[in-house]
Amino acid sequence: MMFTRAIVRTPAPSLVKGISSADLGPVDFERALQQHADYVLALEALGLAVTVLDAEEAYPDSTFVEDVALIFGATGIVTNPGALSRNGETISIRPALLEHFSSLSYISPPGTLDGGDVMSTGDCVYVGLSSRTNRSGAEQLGVHLQKIGLELVVVEMKEMLHLKTGVNYLDQGNLLVTGEFVEAPVWKGFNRTTVVRDEAYAANSVWINGSVLVPAGFPQTTSAIEQLGYQVVVVDTSEFQKLDGGLSCLSLRF
Ligand code: GLY
Repeated sequence: MMFTRAIVRTPAPSLVKGISSADLGPVDFERALQQHADYVLALEALGLAVTVLDAEEAYPDSTFVEDVALIFGATGIVTNPGALSRNGETISIRPALLEHFSSLSYISPPGTLDGGDVMSTGDCVYVGLSSRTNRSGAEQLGVHLQKIGLELVVVEMKEMLHLKTGVNYLDQGNLLVTGEFVEAPVWKGFNRTTVVRDEAYAANSVWINGSVLVPAGFPQTTSAIEQLGYQVVVVDTSEFQKLDGGLSCLSLRF
């Protein structure tokens, strides 16, 4: 699978009021804007055509666009984010998706689902039951995926905000794992690289067409990914880390 496009959303000034459990200090909005612009440049340098959506001041977390939609080949699914303050983000993502997909599917109440809880390895999709994604949301996703021949595996979670906070698929069987997912039997058939606790944020590194975007400041993980044979592209997302936002959260790639 190769990606050719990405959708991102410019952070709004309200970003500084986004949901956070990180305790890493206040967000510097101007710095976040610069980091976001650099992230877009990194995607473009990897060959993606990037659609940059306008900022949405009403939704502080709306730059974390991965949570509001899922894309599997020609299928676009609008999620129903589990945090009430994020729920309306689904409205403005629709026209952006309809530029690329003739029709959309939806996750509907009582189901909730954040895109950050969904990880694809190509032929199999994993969904984490988190504080944001409930069983109804996971079951609805399973129905949508069945129609396109994809298997869904439900993963129980204990600690992480999102599934992809702690596990990310690169390609060729390579998986980054940290925290509660290090020994998870569900991924025992993969070539797992353990991301040490001090570098847990870097478990959310993103494979793009043979290269891997890695957050700045995590040398052990950077080196481990290089040793797997990938070209590493380092991007500084420290302002988004303050809001529990990882590299994958900042884009929809397809
Ligand atoms: N601040 C990102 C999220 O909690 O959804």
